[in-house]
Amino acid sequence: MAKGPQQATGEDRKEQETLRRSGEIPRHIAIIMDGNGRWATERGLPRIAGHTEGVESVRDTVEACGQLGVEYLTLYAFSTENWKRPQEEVSLLMRLLLKALRDETDRLHTNNVRLTSIGDIAALPVEVQRELAEGGERTRNNTGLTLVLALSYSGRWELTQAIRKMARDLQTGRITEQAISEELIGQYLAEIPDPDLLIRTSGEFRISNFLLWQLAYTEIFITPKYWPAFRREELYTAIRDYQRRERRFGMVSEQLAKEKPPRQSVLRGLIRSVTGL
Ligand code: FPP
Repeated sequence: MAKGPQQATGEDRKEQETLRRSGEIPRHIAIIMDGNGRWATERGLPRIAGHTEGVESVRDTVEACGQLGVEYLTLYAFSTENWKRPQEEVSLLMRLLLKALRDETDRLHTNNVRLTSIGDIAALPVEVQRELAEGGERTRNNTGLTLVLALSYSGRWELTQAIRKMARDLQTGRITEQAISEELIGQYLAEIPDPDLLIRTSGEFRISNFLLWQLAYTEIFITPKYWPAFRREELYTAIRDYQRRERRFGMVSEQLAKEKPPRQSVLRGLIRSVTGL
């Protein structure tokens, strides 16, 4: 993210326009950024060099998503399990994150990006917490892309927090057992729509404890590219692949032909009315 803003070239603008015309742009893209270490090792570099180059991929991807009109981009930047890495790597990652936040918030703001985060933010170093809070506050009224950084995050951690809070609310009578529905559970989770497209880099076929509830109907795209080698071209390939898929949400093609596939916001009601679940 240290480089200057990469303006979309004429060619790139054309490609974005073609993508917009050829089908739906996913409203929410989530990415498991993987392969930083391998990218560096294969080049005889220390692992941190992979993370540093990975920041460049973040910058380019955020910019391209904003230009394309993607509404939410959620990046799995640091998992609950990543705390178990060697102390030196954890602290270098935190320093890199802090630097990226300091360097980039202005540009995010200028580009109308709203910065938010999910995860156990209180577990992060205080300077990172402060930078996230200030960046979030500064960009909160922006209306373009919402960039969600998943930090000290895991799906099971999020579900555990939600269940604890529900148990408390049940005990105090704020909610009743009968009121528990998918909708209500969703209200105890991060305020993000379900992802339409999940991208995972480095060729691994796993979801690694990411957004476990929210990924129920998400289309998955796996690329062999390591995250530091991921640039907007590969993002466009993933979106083109997504546009060729038929998202049936448990229904049959004929039902979908009658109406345009619904947005996530109306999906739960629709699924319930069709399946009775
Ligand atoms: C996975 O590669 C990547 C991470 C654990 C960290 C991702 C962090 C960044 C790209 C930098 C900071 C992020 C932001 C949002 C500014 P890996 O280390 O697991 O690679 P490997 O599987 O090849 O070892």
